[in-house]
Amino acid sequence: MYSRIAGTGHYVPERILTNAELEKIVDTTDEWIRSRSGIEQRHIAADDQTTASLAIEAAKRAIEAAGITPGDIDFLVVGTTTPDLVFPNVGTIVQEALGIHGCAAFSVEAACSGFIYALSIADKFVTSGESKNALVIGAETLSRITDWTDRSTCVLFGDGAGAVVLQPSTEQGIISTHLHADGQYKDLLYAPAGVSKRPQGDLNKEFAIHMQGNEVFKLAVKTLGAVVKETLEANSLDHEALDWLVPHQANKRIIEATAKRLGMPMEKVILTVAKYGNTSAASVPMALDVAVRDGRIKRGDLLLAEAFGGGFTWGSALIRF
Ligand code: UT7
Repeated sequence: MYSRIAGTGHYVPERILTNAELEKIVDTTDEWIRSRSGIEQRHIAADDQTTASLAIEAAKRAIEAAGITPGDIDFLVVGTTTPDLVFPNVGTIVQEALGIHGCAAFSVEAACSGFIYALSIADKFVTSGESKNALVIGAETLSRITDWTDRSTCVLFGDGAGAVVLQPSTEQGIISTHLHADGQYKDLLYAPAGVSKRPQGDLNKEFAIHMQGNEVFKLAVKTLGAVVKETLEANSLDHEALDWLVPHQANKRIIEATAKRLGMPMEKVILTVAKYGNTSAASVPMALDVAVRDGRIKRGDLLLAEAFGGGFTWGSALIRF
């Protein structure tokens, strides 16, 4: 028994923030942002939008694509670093908005790897027979934890959501997932304000993402290279078997380095970072849905999805679409 992706969806808020606009806010240039990260623009949630509102729209699209109704969903998990509230969890807010009652609904907090973690968990519930229609979402409003005076981070992040519906199948679907974490790097990428631990000083500034970009970059390249190798080896596959790489969209240069290690040409890599920036846990399902809807990813294609983020956490999924 496998779990198979029956439908995908994504949603981004209407407001687009361009590099030209950022030039007016901080000491940066369009040229610097494009050449260092590959980002040209990002979408920013409206004041009345939250992580749940973006998740709901992505979920509706995935449910429609799967040809089911919200009432069929029997398991709901959201990967996010920017939950609406401490509790109730984002999963239950999405659940209520979709008119679903009673099934398990929760969120997973694993920074940019949140969707891969959520997918791996949902896969276990579907393959064990406990769930027939699992809704797996990655959703973020990173703009709410961005320090808009810090040029080293504010040019990188964006808001959005992506979702998939998993169903049981005798045909291959999620073939394997590989999850990892190592807390020793926590000081390289973090948002200090929490619930039981609160920072002193300027809360707006302290609440925001702190990142030693260059160090994170080096470790991301190394770690993602290792996890894609692990995934191929675990399945006795050569990189040539892969049809698509669906990477976390943090930085075009990190993605290019991973593709190079895999020996994959960039034509086989799904890139959304230029339009959406880094949307953390939302980036993998957003990229997946973009490529499914534009016809690049087709039924039967073999995909390798990967992500790396704060914690550090990282992971991958080998998927027969
Ligand atoms: O999603 C979770 C994981 N996150 C990541 O994987 C992100 C990893 N890191 C990165 O993507 C890259 O490190 C960045 C895009 C954040 C930065 O690129 P970089 O090539 O590593 O640049 P850098 O941090 O080494 O900075 C180079 C220079 C510095 O100036 P000096 O010290 O050389 O004079 C920075 O102050 O660029 C300067 N700089 C900027 N200049 C213009 C930093 N941010 C900006 C900016 N505009 N926005």
